[in-house]
Amino acid sequence: MPVVAVSHPLVRHKVGLLREADISTKKFRELTGELGRLLAYEATADFPLATTTIHCWSGPTEIEQIAGRKVTVVPILRAGLGMLDGVLDMLPNAKVSVVGLARNHETLQPEPYFDRFVGQLGERTALIIDPMLATGGSMISTIDMLKARGCRDIRALVLVAAPEGIRALEAAHPDVRCWTAAVDSHLDEQGYIIPGLGDAGDKIFGTK
Ligand code: URA
Repeated sequence: MPVVAVSHPLVRHKVGLLREADISTKKFRELTGELGRLLAYEATADFPLATTTIHCWSGPTEIEQIAGRKVTVVPILRAGLGMLDGVLDMLPNAKVSVVGLARNHETLQPEPYFDRFVGQLGERTALIIDPMLATGGSMISTIDMLKARGCRDIRALVLVAAPEGIRALEAAHPDVRCWTAAVDSHLDEQGYIIPGLGDAGDKIFGTK
């Protein structure tokens, strides 16, 4: 199944706390970072390991290490930045690619206004981070951009997903797996996820 609703109790507990209407910026940011860590943990569960021998205090010892996996984390501006530090806590050697998308008012399609990708995308696992999978438009465009640059292992981490966004993502990119902390009911007329979190970017940055 391309979209996985993470069922771990810590994830379910923390995403519930995020829904409090009067949550502080500080608390929202902390929880977003913590969920970024937990989702990164889930999304990397199949990374291959290799054994190597090190000098342990007790003598030569065989240990396991993640084998030759290059990762780029791809925050979608601006709300994706809220999950970045948490994901990098788990993957401190990952490189960061950044994408900014804005809706074209004529075509209503998301168009990039900024992108800065790291090199060797063909050899990397890309972990796209964006708190809200609403219509799926930004996520699909970001995946299009990564695939156009040769990236073949693309994964997405989101906090809340709407069924509309899940359907769109699965139709456009059935090969891309997405881990979400929650699957919500629907989108309202303005494109907000219900019950959702409200505007995740405003809550992370303290704007509005
Ligand atoms: N973006 C948000 O920040 N919130 C939503 O509910 C949908 C898109």
